[in-house]
This record gives sequence, C-alpha cells and structure tokens, in this order.
Amino acid sequence: MGNIFPRWLNLLPVQALIGLGGIGTLAIAVIWYSFTPKYTRVGYQPQQPIPFDHALHVGQNGMDCRYCHSHVENSSHSNIPNAQVCWNCHGPGKVKSDSPKLEPLRQAMDPNYEKYTGQPIQWVQIHETPDYAYFNHSAHVNRGVSCVECHGKVNEMEVVSHEKPLSMSFCLDCHRNVESHLRPLDQITNLDWSAHGMDEKDREAFYAYVADKAGKPVAEVKAGHEGKEWSQEAMGAYLKDLWKVNPPQDCAACHR
Ligand code: HEC
Ligand code: HEC
Ligand code: HEC
Ligand code: HEC
Ligand code: HEC
Repeated sequence: MGNIFPRWLNLLPVQALIGLGGIGTLAIAVIWYSFTPKYTRVGYQPQQPIPFDHALHVGQNGMDCRYCHSHVENSSHSNIPNAQVCWNCHGPGKVKSDSPKLEPLRQAMDPNYEKYTGQPIQWVQIHETPDYAYFNHSAHVNRGVSCVECHGKVNEMEVVSHEKPLSMSFCLDCHRNVESHLRPLDQITNLDWSAHGMDEKDREAFYAYVADKAGKPVAEVKAGHEGKEWSQEAMGAYLKDLWKVNPPQDCAACHR
C-alpha cells in the first residue's frame, strides 16, 4: 500500500499536531484516519532465538498466560518471561534439557555450559505501539478485555504472528462498540471462551440483571431464556453497565 502523504508529514510530532487543535488538525486527522494503511504489521512473524511454541505450552500443556506474562494484570507493559522461568522446567535433568533448540537458554542460565554468557535471551518484539501513542495492558485486562481481542488465538500458534492490526481505527472500533468485546474477568486468558459457554455463576448474575432491568421476576426471565443461545452483546452490555466501562475516544487519552 502506497504512502499518500509526503515524507515530511511523518516527521511532525503527533503531540504537536494534536496540541494545535482546530479545524485544520481535525481535517488532517480525518484523512489520516481513513487512509493510512491499517494492516502494515499484520502477519509479522520474526524468527526467534528459541522456537518457542505457544500451542504446545498453552494449548497442550494448559499453562496460563500469566505464568509467563506475569505483569500483564498489574502493569501497562506485558513482560516477556526471563530465562529463569524456562529454566524451572528445562533446567539440567528436567524436560528436554539437552534439546539443541534450547541452546540459547543454556547460554543464558548454565554456568557449566562451555558457551555460557549469562546474557538474557534476545527475543524479537512483535507487537509495538509507536512512542506517540499510549497503551496500558492492565487497564484492559482488568476491564474484561481478553488477550484474544488484540493478539488472536495465541494458544493455537506454534509461532506467534501479528494477527490484529492494532491500528488507531482498530482501537477505536472497540472503544465505540465495547459490548461486543467484554467478558467475565476470570475468562481473560481463556482464549477459547465465548458468551455461549458462560458458567452457572455468570448466568445467575446475568438473569438477575436482566430481570432487574425488565422489572420482572428472575424466574420468568430464566424461563424465557431457556434453550436460547447467549449473545455476546447482551452479556457485554451487562458487564459494561456493571463496571461502568467507558473507553475514551478523545485524542489526548491515547496521545499524551
Ligand atoms: C511458558 C511461557 C509462556 C506462556 C505460558 C505464554 N507465553 Fe506468550 N510468550 C512467551 C515467550 C518466551 C514469548 C517470546 C517469543 C515468541 O514470540 O514466541 C512470548 C510471546 C508472546 C506474544 C508476542 C510478544 C511480542 O513480542 O509482541 C504474545 C502476544 C503472547 N506471548 C501472548 C500470550 C498469551 C495470550 C498467552 C496465553 C494464552 C501466552 N502468551 C502464554 C512465553 C509464554
Ligand atoms: C511448566 C513447565 C515448562 C515451562 C515453564 C517451559 N516449558 Fe518448554 N516445554 C515443556 C514441556 C512439557 C515440553 C514438551 C516436552 C516433550 O515434547 O516431551 C516443552 C518443550 C519445549 C521445547 C521443545 C523442545 C524440543 O526439543 O522438542 C522448547 C524449545 C521449549 N519448551 C522452550 C521453552 C522456553 C523458551 C520456555 C520459557 C519461555 C519454556 N519452554 C518454558 C514445559 C515447560
Ligand atoms: C486491548 C488490546 C490488548 C489486549 C487486551 C492485550 N494486549 Fe498485549 N499488546 C497490545 C499492544 C498494543 C502491544 C504493544 C505494546 C507496546 O508497544 O508496549 C502489546 C504487547 C504485548 C506483548 C509484548 C510486550 C513486549 O515488550 O515484548 C505481550 C507479551 C503481550 N502483549 C501479551 C498479552 C497478554 C498475555 C494479554 C492477555 C492477558 C494481552 N497481551 C492483552 C495490546 C493488547
Ligand atoms: C477489544 C476492545 C478494546 C480494544 C481493541 C482497545 N481498547 Fe482501550 N479500552 C477498552 C476498555 C474496555 C477500556 C476500559 C474503559 C474503562 O475502564 O472505563 C479501555 C481503556 C483505554 C484507555 C483508558 C485507560 C488508560 O489506560 O488510561 C486507553 C488510553 C486505551 N484504552 C487505549 C487503547 C489503545 C491505544 C488501543 C489500541 C492499541 C486500545 N485501547 C484498544 C477496550 C479496548
Ligand atoms: C483509543 C486510542 C486512540 C485515540 C482515542 C486516538 N488515537 Fe491516534 N493513534 C492511536 C494509535 C494506537 C496510533 C498508532 C497506530 C499504528 O501503530 O499504526 C495512532 C496514530 C495516530 C496518528 C499517526 C498516523 C496514523 O494513523 O498512524 C495520528 C496523526 C493520530 N493518531 C491522531 C489522532 C487524533 C487527532 C485523535 C483524536 C481525534 C486521535 N489520534 C485519537 C490511538 C488513538
């Protein structure tokens, strides 16, 4: 996709542009929003120092994302695990400890290994927000937005690739239509979850909520729902109300 803007435009600091305000800025923003390529990084799948397989560790062995990406709920940044985390299972005498695929791990961790460096494994970062845009993981995962919304089905990926655009319009599409994307907090790292598979507790809460809204007895609402499919929108609207979710759409929220 060609770049329809002169190169110098790229050099304009976005903060300055937004700081200016006014009709001109708005016009530029609208054009920019509509015409910049949305999928530039989609499909990006760099080769990693160790061929780490999410489908194997998560999909088959059932590991939770937070075992490794342990900061994701408490921090703006979702960390890549350090080599010690891998070493817990792949250290001497443990799982596949002699595998040639794990050589960079031994270099990082095993002082008795002849090629020991003690240096961290050099993972290549795949998803990256430009410096001028602000993004915070914890603000999302604690408000019912699952990893799958922004990263796709990582639990099925043998090699992680950049699946979603993560462009400005991608962010805003959800911020404007958030009920299509919210789920119960205990399902954030269950990438196969869908509203159709809600558990008993969530279902009861949902019935109570709908009954309250409709001014009807809970039993009546329940009976009316029997055998019907759950809709994401109904569930999402419920959670949106419950947590008073209101994602920002003003420029300054994401460009600070
Ligand atoms: C055993 C540890 C481990 C577990 C469990 C794990 N990951 Fe990862 N993850 C990694 C490592 C190591 C990398 C860096 C190498 C790579 O890209 O595969 C990574 C990379 C990623 C990336 C790409 C990072 C970037 O550079 O943009 C995403 C997204 C991701 N993981 C999401 C998840 C999700 C979602 C889950 C749960 C479904 C999960 N991971 C579970 C270890 C783990
Ligand atoms: C909770 C334990 C556990 C942790 C933590 C863990 N793994 Fe694994 N890993 C496994 C298991 C189990 C296998 C499958 C072994 C088999 O095929 O017999 C495996 C297989 C692998 C393999 C394939 C080895 C081969 O030769 O087939 C690689 C590479 C690997 N893991 C890398 C990593 C990396 C990198 C990390 C840290 C980010 C990590 N693992 C963390 C349990 C773990
Ligand atoms: C609302 C969208 C969104 C959600 C939800 C989300 N991420 Fe991310 N993720 C991003 C963006 C955007 C980046 C790039 C951030 C940056 O440049 O700092 C990213 C980056 C990452 C990285 C790479 C960090 C690095 O420095 O290499 C990992 C790992 C990751 N996410 C894991 C997860 C996991 C695990 C979950 C679920 C518990 C999750 N993400 C949920 C949007 C999201
Ligand atoms: C799938 C839905 C979804 C996507 C995609 C998404 N967001 Fe959000 N965003 C939310 C929700 C939900 C909230 C929480 C709003 C609240 O707490 O009221 C939120 C809140 C925010 C906030 C305010 C909280 C804070 O961190 O200060 C910012 C900024 C933000 N998002 C930026 C982004 C950016 C940048 C992207 C794209 C890289 C993005 N969002 C993608 C759903 C989404
Ligand atoms: C929900 C978060 C969010 C909001 C709100 C937002 N932006 Fe952005 N914006 C982003 C992200 C993320 C990028 C980087 C997209 C990428 O990596 O391609 C971006 C990129 C841009 C760019 C660079 C060109 C481009 O499209 O890549 C401009 C200019 C811009 N935004 C202006 C604005 C203006 C003006 C507003 C208010 C009308 C605004 N933004 C509101 C998240 C946001």
